[in-house]
Amino acid sequence: MFSAVCFANGGAELAQHSDAQVWAQLQQGAQGYTTSKSEFHNQPINTYDLRVLEVRDLLAPALIAASFGMIIIFLLFIKVNGISKLHHGFSGKMVYRWSKFDVSIHWLGAIPCLLLILTGIGLLAGRFFIQPYIGEGAWGSLVYGAKQIHDVVAFPFMAGWLLMTVLWAKNQMPKMYDVKWFMVVGGYINFGPFKGKHPDAGFANAGEKLWFWAFAIFGLVISATGMILLFPNLFEPSRTISLLSLILHGVSAIIICAFSIVHIFMATAMSEGGMECMVSGYCDENWASQHHNLWFDEIKENGTLKYKE
Ligand code: HEM
Repeated sequence: MFSAVCFANGGAELAQHSDAQVWAQLQQGAQGYTTSKSEFHNQPINTYDLRVLEVRDLLAPALIAASFGMIIIFLLFIKVNGISKLHHGFSGKMVYRWSKFDVSIHWLGAIPCLLLILTGIGLLAGRFFIQPYIGEGAWGSLVYGAKQIHDVVAFPFMAGWLLMTVLWAKNQMPKMYDVKWFMVVGGYINFGPFKGKHPDAGFANAGEKLWFWAFAIFGLVISATGMILLFPNLFEPSRTISLLSLILHGVSAIIICAFSIVHIFMATAMSEGGMECMVSGYCDENWASQHHNLWFDEIKENGTLKYKE
């Protein structure tokens, strides 16, 4: 690599230096000349880029904190607070909520998203908690496999993201009653002044709306930056754009990862009866009136309430 570049202070002088000294000079931004015409062609290591890479080094600990931290917080929360039970139990009457197509596009986006999170954590932060414990060969294969999966599942993720964002946005518009929902933490706190509170919610509650819009916005950022990183020859980004994409990709990943963990806990463990919505598309009538009262009242009034036969 270095033979293609001659340095201003003379190749002969550099040749007498040890590798460490050459590296030190390069890292300080040593410049020279070359026949190449590409950006920064006379400077193998750009000191500005190195500063951006320092920011990148913060992403791995932040991703570990966001993912493992969120899991620990939620486990403690459930232990102290307990889950949200259906006050009147299950009615057994199942109300239509999501179409089969909605359920399919949810899983089209969700399954790849989970694979992207797992492989992404391995690629960005695996050197801290996997590499020290396995051999070099195994680590190399793991990184290679993770990268292949990460690149392939990005496409179904983007398809799921696009469909969910476009088709579901109308039900996720913020309303004034969403403020009250946040003030009483959605009625999920089982003690103190919050206990027994059931804030109003339409088809989506305020927490779901926050997740939806975070997913819509950061899903776009992560997809766009991912494509720039995956196809450098197609987009021909400058080195600065590439580095910026790398940072934005990581920051979006941290946000989506933290939200996903909250979302999965809410759907599977926190809200009794909630998971059924994304299995059959139907929810129990008591779940509908407890968690989405305004929506339930609305479908009763406008005649669109449909029960499972
Ligand atoms: C094991 C993992 C997951 C489970 C069990 C799960 C479950 C659910 C359930 C039950 C709902 C419907 C909630 C309702 O009807 O009120 C839902 C909605 C939704 N899910 Fe997931 N989900 C998972 C992963 C994901 C992932 C990884 C994404 C991101 C791609 C995602 C994106 C969404 C979105 C945008 C909604 C609509 C907003 C909302 O209702 O919260 N889900 N999910």
